[in-house]
Amino acid sequence: MAEQISLTQHLGQLRDRELAQLIAVVAGLSADIRREFPHRLITENAVENKYGEFTRELDDWTNKEFCRALIGSKLVRKVYSEELAEPLLGEPGAPFEVTMDPLDGSSNIVANNPFGSIFGVWRKSLPATGREQVAAFFKLYGPITTLVYTTSETKKVAEFVKARKGVVQYNLLYDGLTIPDEGKVYGVGGNPLDFDEKYGGFLKRLVFGHKLKTRYCGAFVADFSQILHYGGYFGYGGTRKSPNGKLRLFFESNPIALIAEHAGGRSSDGGKSILDVKSDNMEQRVPTHVGNKHIIEELEETLK
Ligand code: F6P
Ligand code: MN
Repeated sequence: MAEQISLTQHLGQLRDRELAQLIAVVAGLSADIRREFPHRLITENAVENKYGEFTRELDDWTNKEFCRALIGSKLVRKVYSEELAEPLLGEPGAPFEVTMDPLDGSSNIVANNPFGSIFGVWRKSLPATGREQVAAFFKLYGPITTLVYTTSETKKVAEFVKARKGVVQYNLLYDGLTIPDEGKVYGVGGNPLDFDEKYGGFLKRLVFGHKLKTRYCGAFVADFSQILHYGGYFGYGGTRKSPNGKLRLFFESNPIALIAEHAGGRSSDGGKSILDVKSDNMEQRVPTHVGNKHIIEELEETLK
């Protein structure tokens, strides 16, 4: 068997040493986080968050763990979190601002379907565009824990799997991961009765023209992970009731868009790359489409 490359070794190739350190800090937390999941499933004490959604004990606990690690690293001057009404302040001179969705797909907790954590990293002060991110990464807590990261320095996507219990080590699975040309699957969030006709027509062509199979997990990270590996399309677009869809630009869509584009795919808000969407509102939602380049181009053409 070929010798395994660890995340630590892989990060060793980055010229940006501060960024390498930051990614390592977040990666190092997953052993503890995952161990706690079964013990923090309580739902009675759920409280309403800033979006009117119900935050569970697990969301709240995970958020605090990541906040503690990020601020404790002294590398982060501001943490913006989906679970915080205001950003958390670190050392004013620290190099990075980080956005995070600590528990993406948390409505999957009850059904024991996958969920994950999403991070975007900027050296610039936020708000800034997704294109200005210096790194984006996510963790997916499926039957195994994986970590996928990209940076503006490498413009490549790498995926790691967490090694045996007790050892906080990630081993490289794929380096220079690219979305396969021939897409296989598609997933769509939102109520189809609420879609407009153009979008409905596009979805029909995915099935009857591109012959894609339906696969929907209900967690953005998991839905995107299968696009990364099998190719195709995932969208949580605008609907008649919610023109901006559901996903949050800074906490979810920007980081995943950077990974999608560095993996040779495309992201779109329906008209342009998500990475070029400008907003001063950190809570902004954005219609989110990711997948193979030719499929996203077809979507933009259809929605014109
Ligand atoms: O964070 C929002 C989120 O949980 C995403 O992970 C996911 O894509 C979406 O909501 C699922 O929404 P719905 O429950 O409407 O399918
Ligand atoms: Mn989320």
